[in-house]
Amino acid sequence: QGNYNQKIDYVLKVVMIGDSAVGKSQLLARFTRNEFSLESKATIGVEFQTKTLLIDHKTVKAQIWDTAGQERYRAVTSAYYRGAVGAMLVYDITKRQSFDHVTRWLEELRGHADKNIVIMLIGNKTDLGSLRAVPTEDAKEFAQRESLFFMETSALEATNVESAFLTILTEIY
Ligand code: GTP
Ligand code: MG
Repeated sequence: QGNYNQKIDYVLKVVMIGDSAVGKSQLLARFTRNEFSLESKATIGVEFQTKTLLIDHKTVKAQIWDTAGQERYRAVTSAYYRGAVGAMLVYDITKRQSFDHVTRWLEELRGHADKNIVIMLIGNKTDLGSLRAVPTEDAKEFAQRESLFFMETSALEATNVESAFLTILTEIY
């Protein structure tokens, strides 16, 4: 970064999906800029951020796409998934419904994305442990059954955010 002569070995497209307000945009802000906002506005359409990293001595540019969880604000589905090699499927550990909807998001992924896409299930907002509605074990079992990677994160506290993105990028690569 900051070096325009930098040679990029790979560009990897990763998409963020999951219900509205689970923290997709804040996870992305934390990972790419180390920023977080409690007054985050719902995403409209599609936004994307990039971050260049060194993985196994190769320069990897992660191009991370973020769209709205709300149906009415969503980007065109087929264009959103085109060329994506990874997906971060996020739910909120304090909102049971956002976890129940994971199966719907998987259906959409399986209908539109490449069949080899690497999927990471993310239970976000671990800083709100006293409000937890989804036990870690339930999500872990679900992820195992569906062959997904799984991690719990907090964008607010910056817990596991870098680790989650690095894991998916390393698996893709
Ligand atoms: P859409 O764009 O509507 O799909 O929502 P989103 O998934 O992008 O959610 P967003 O990142 O905008 O976050 C929604 C709300 O949750 C905001 O008020 C964030 O500040 C808050 N939030 C996000 N991550 C965390 C977290 O780890 N902990 C806590 N306590 N709040 C969080
Ligand atoms: Mg958003």
